[in-house]
Amino acid sequence: MLKPIVIANWKMNGSLAENRSLLQALASQLSQQTVHAVDIAICPPFPYLFQASEELPPQISLGAQNMNTYVAGAHTGEVSVAMLEDFDCRYVLLGHSERRRLYGETNTEIGGKFELAIETGIRPVLCVGETLEERQRGDTLNVIEAQLNAILDRSKRESMALMVIAYEPVWAIGTGLTASPSQAQEVHHYIRTLLQEVDAGMASHTPLLYGGSVNKDNAADLFRQPDINGALVGGASLKPIDFVRICESAAYEGTATTR
Ligand code: PGA
Repeated sequence: MLKPIVIANWKMNGSLAENRSLLQALASQLSQQTVHAVDIAICPPFPYLFQASEELPPQISLGAQNMNTYVAGAHTGEVSVAMLEDFDCRYVLLGHSERRRLYGETNTEIGGKFELAIETGIRPVLCVGETLEERQRGDTLNVIEAQLNAILDRSKRESMALMVIAYEPVWAIGTGLTASPSQAQEVHHYIRTLLQEVDAGMASHTPLLYGGSVNKDNAADLFRQPDINGALVGGASLKPIDFVRICESAAYEGTATTR
């Protein structure tokens, strides 16, 4: 049984003052039981990595929302993997659909970032997901397979131990529409099967997170699915009570399935 992971993706939100009160609320509301049972991480915007690294409650990790494919140099406006390492980032989101769609990120770039993150010891959270049109055309599983293979084909098998995969249907992100637990489970199971074809160990140890309008009311049903090992949470991660409830559901369902 994989330990559940819940990752907050703050996207381009927050301020010094708002972050402080959010982090303080998490510190006071997350129980010891929950932080022991779940790996919880916060991905703030880059300028707030320092603040978050100073003010993060103990046992909550830091993550980043992106990084550059190059290690250093003349890349104005970009952030390197070594900078994330300086702040002890444990995770980095890669290939989020907003990066693919709004900033034209390609599988080749995402693959380069993926390898660099792994070499540095930062867990890449590879985001995959279909658009509404692709789902309606019946192409969901093909799209997921292509996005996954673009990374798996170019990376060494031994380097996959740190990999986390987040299935985020594009039509469910920030829309209030969540994939039903069975729709999500179908895709998660398919991803597990694809990993199995590469390596049985990889299939069993890779955490598969669901993302897309996860909230305090739908989280438990999602976490109850056998191939869902946690969540990547956008909007609801900005509301401390909701985020804490999601983490508690992960803790409860995680321990329930090991009983
Ligand atoms: P959402 O975002 O929870 O606001 O839908 C999830 C994500 O984009 O990671």
